[in-house]
Amino acid sequence: MTHGLGRWAAIGAVVSLAVTVITVALALTAGASARASQQELAHRLVPGAAAAGTLLAGYTAESDLLHNYVTAGPKASIAPFRDAAGQMPGYQDRVTALLRGYPQMPSLIAAEQAALRAWMVQVAGPQLAAAARGDFASARSLQNNATRNRPYTLAVRSQGAALDAQIISAQASLVAKLGLAEARLFTALAVVCAVVVAVAAGSVAAVRRWLLRPFALLHQAAEAVAAGEYDTRVPAVGPAELAELGRATERMRTQLVAALAEAELAQIRLRAMNETLGQQVQQRTAHLEIANRNLATFTYSAAHDLRTPLRAISGYAEILTEDYGERLDETGHSYAGRIQVAADHIGALLDGLSHLSQVSRADIHRQDVNLSAVATTLCDELRARNPGRRVRVRIEDGIRVSADRSLIRIALYNLLDNAWKYTAGRDDATIEVAFTPVTGDGIHCYVRDNGVGFDPAYADKLFQPFQRLHDTSEFGGAGVGTGLAIVQRIIERHGGQTRAEGAVGQGATFYLTLAATSDAPAAGHIRVSAGSAG
Ligand SMILES: Nc1ncnc2c1ncn2[C@@H]1O[C@H](COP(=O)(O)OP(=O)(O)OP(=O)(O)O)[C@@H](O)[C@H]1O
Ligand SMILES: [Mg+2]
Repeated sequence: MTHGLGRWAAIGAVVSLAVTVITVALALTAGASARASQQELAHRLVPGAAAAGTLLAGYTAESDLLHNYVTAGPKASIAPFRDAAGQMPGYQDRVTALLRGYPQMPSLIAAEQAALRAWMVQVAGPQLAAAARGDFASARSLQNNATRNRPYTLAVRSQGAALDAQIISAQASLVAKLGLAEARLFTALAVVCAVVVAVAAGSVAAVRRWLLRPFALLHQAAEAVAAGEYDTRVPAVGPAELAELGRATERMRTQLVAALAEAELAQIRLRAMNETLGQQVQQRTAHLEIANRNLATFTYSAAHDLRTPLRAISGYAEILTEDYGERLDETGHSYAGRIQVAADHIGALLDGLSHLSQVSRADIHRQDVNLSAVATTLCDELRARNPGRRVRVRIEDGIRVSADRSLIRIALYNLLDNAWKYTAGRDDATIEVAFTPVTGDGIHCYVRDNGVGFDPAYADKLFQPFQRLHDTSEFGGAGVGTGLAIVQRIIERHGGQTRAEGAVGQGATFYLTLAATSDAPAAGHIRVSAGSAG
């Protein structure tokens, strides 16, 4: 059954309309018939019966008044009788007018009028004539002659009774007609009620069978699909709209199944690609690691090999000054001195390269390192090495990282050494070592000082080997500019990052991102120590 809901609704509306029209027509017809019967009864038959009764009563009064007149004798007045007789035509006319048109009525009325006329001519007439002559004795005798008078009297009474009977019969047939009209009305209403009940029951059954049941099937299937049972087919059942909904849902399900299959395939491909990529990355990393190590080894051995000729240059320069010093003029001495200085500088550069290559090649053995403790020891060493400096040091407790102890110590040393070095000109020199937790399992450790700072435009350059922003003569030491390069190499080898912030004359901050230890640190309290001058 796939008729549209609209078609069923139209059929229902037509049936309901037809039932309504039939009901109204039947009710109107039956009502009109009942009303006509009621009016006929009220305006004709009931007044007609009353008028017939009045006519007979008029006759009785006429007869009684005649009797009184004749019995009373000459002293009596004939006027009451004449008045009563005078009203009789009016009574007759009213009866005739009201009962006109009914079967047998006109003949019965005519017969009654004839009987009344006969009574007037044959009974009342002779008595009135005798009384008019003054012979009341004869008049009374005539009046008492029952044998003569009775047929006329009886004729009037029997005709009146016949008319009454006919009126009653007409009333009865009208009442029966009224009953029939009412019965028809009730029958129509009963039929309509039955049709309405049947239509309602049929509608409920139809809705259940063609709407609710298919809807339940559709709903069940949709729920199953929504719950992940993608193999459940969605049926196209019920009226056209519902069947179309079922087909659309089924199309959606098949598309979903196809999309899921495609997604699964893509996921498998992606996993395979990831695996390949992971392997490639691993291979490349291993190659890179080997290349880096080779480069570091090469750098180390080159630096090492260069030391012999460098020592020779330095040695010959020394011999030149010591053994041939007398023969050299001032310019010669100056050149020999410059050779010595240049050789020392190259030596320092080679030291820097060696350190860099060492930290690049060293194996990493991770362990929990208390960076706060390491920083405290290094600051104590720096303070001992520079007893004349007055530096305020603030180290936050509990900075714990997972790192190679000796490498991380080298990195922290370079940062603290710089901080110490570049706060040299300040009386209120302050160095701070602290950390801020970051998302994941990392932390930002930082070393901050309030020294000379640097131009932030060169922030990234600082980490490149041999890049220096400040002159050695100004800050002392034999720095060649490999300290921060070493820091960066060590942190990168731990999988972390370095960053520098600073401004000229406003100090510098160096951040290191490192993996925290498993029992991640909470912000600890800061220990402050201050060295004193002298
Ligand atoms: N705390 C700091 N404040 C200001 N400038 C700094 C600071 N630390 C480093 N720098 C700048 O960065 C440059 C590079 O630093 P790096 O530690 O690599 O070299 P260095 O300290 O000059 O020499 P080395 O560390 O090799 O002895 C420095 O020359 C200096 O200009
Ligand atoms: Mg340095």
